[in-house]
Amino acid sequence: MSSELNIVVLPGDGIGIEVIDAALAVLAPLQARHGFKLRYDMRPGGAHCYKDTGEAFPASSMEASRKADAILFGAMGWPDIRYADGTEIAPQLELRVELDLYAGVRPIRAIPGLPMPLASPRAKDIDFVIVRESTEGWFHARGTSTRGVSASGDEAVHDTSEISRKGCERLFDFSFRLARARRARNAAKGRVTCIDKSNVFLGMAFMNQVFHERARLNPDIAADHCYIDAYCLNLIRKPWDYDVCPMENQFGDITSDLGAGLICGMGYAPSADLGDDHGLFQPSHGSAPDIAGRGIANPTATILSAAMMLDWLAERHARPNLAQAARSIETAIDAAFSQGKVRPADIGGSDGTSAITRAVIGLLA
Ligand code: NAI
Ligand code: MG
Repeated sequence: MSSELNIVVLPGDGIGIEVIDAALAVLAPLQARHGFKLRYDMRPGGAHCYKDTGEAFPASSMEASRKADAILFGAMGWPDIRYADGTEIAPQLELRVELDLYAGVRPIRAIPGLPMPLASPRAKDIDFVIVRESTEGWFHARGTSTRGVSASGDEAVHDTSEISRKGCERLFDFSFRLARARRARNAAKGRVTCIDKSNVFLGMAFMNQVFHERARLNPDIAADHCYIDAYCLNLIRKPWDYDVCPMENQFGDITSDLGAGLICGMGYAPSADLGDDHGLFQPSHGSAPDIAGRGIANPTATILSAAMMLDWLAERHARPNLAQAARSIETAIDAAFSQGKVRPADIGGSDGTSAITRAVIGLLA
């Protein structure tokens, strides 16, 4: 492998472009300092790309993504730009299926110094991970009738779900490995909680059965289960209790926004879409049309996603210097907030994208 790593960058739409600029600015000084080189391959895609060219995600962008060492992604989609069937342009969903990025890893961690929305002093201990299955579940129906959508005239539409044994086994195995790694790294609880609706849906009952099968193969990690509705209650009452929480695609989509709300908003919630062969890193948020173009998007989530990318590359290529750079980013972010050096607009402050980015760069080790 060449020492240079090839990173496909997909800024996309709206604030996706702004927060990607910020993440690249943070990565720049780290490369010389920690001895690695990232070669960026900027590629088009998204709602405005579709509007301008008729193509949401050019085949050349998909091909480049497939060949890349990692993909750094901003956000894609714009509510006013839609396909004829009424759905939005969302190439990120196609990428998850095309590259088999089955594990959507969404860490929800309270950054020290931020004013937590929950009044309990324990809110500062919030540190759990939603693992969103990202290739099947209720998103299986997305797209065309070939994936199982059947419309009965104007009267009813059926969006079918798929839960497969393979999809469940790899999701849960990933979650047990993650719980083990988190316990080794930061003394997390070593607990995996399967979130489902197995009291009602057959597919979910099957998912729950596979969960217990895989739990028996991972006896060193505590395994338990919670229904999705009770989980939403617990995320408000005692989110600090959770560690690693795998779940179906749509449940993961919804609860990751709830989780982000617990730690001050979408601007603080990074994510990684991982498969066995590819990794895509992006903030959990979208293109935020309500604040796009105003310079106030919070880049923290994207900068933390870039750190997740470095960690993933470090492990894949056995290059510990990349993991050191990731630690440097996390430490700088925590210092920026805990020392009160930044107060982003989304928590009532006046710091915009560039002020936050500058503060983080100034604190990099
Ligand atoms: P959104 O995540 O873009 O925004 C939700 C709310 O959070 C808005 O009030 C926004 O201002 C705020 N917010 C989001 N990111 C922020 C940041 N970095 N700093 C400060 N505030 C931030 O979700 P929304 O509005 O539902 O969707 C907007 C568009 O994005 C839609 O077209 C949607 O389809 C698309 N989308 C794309 C995603 C992706 O590319 N992975 C994920 C979610 C939505
Ligand atoms: Mg979402």
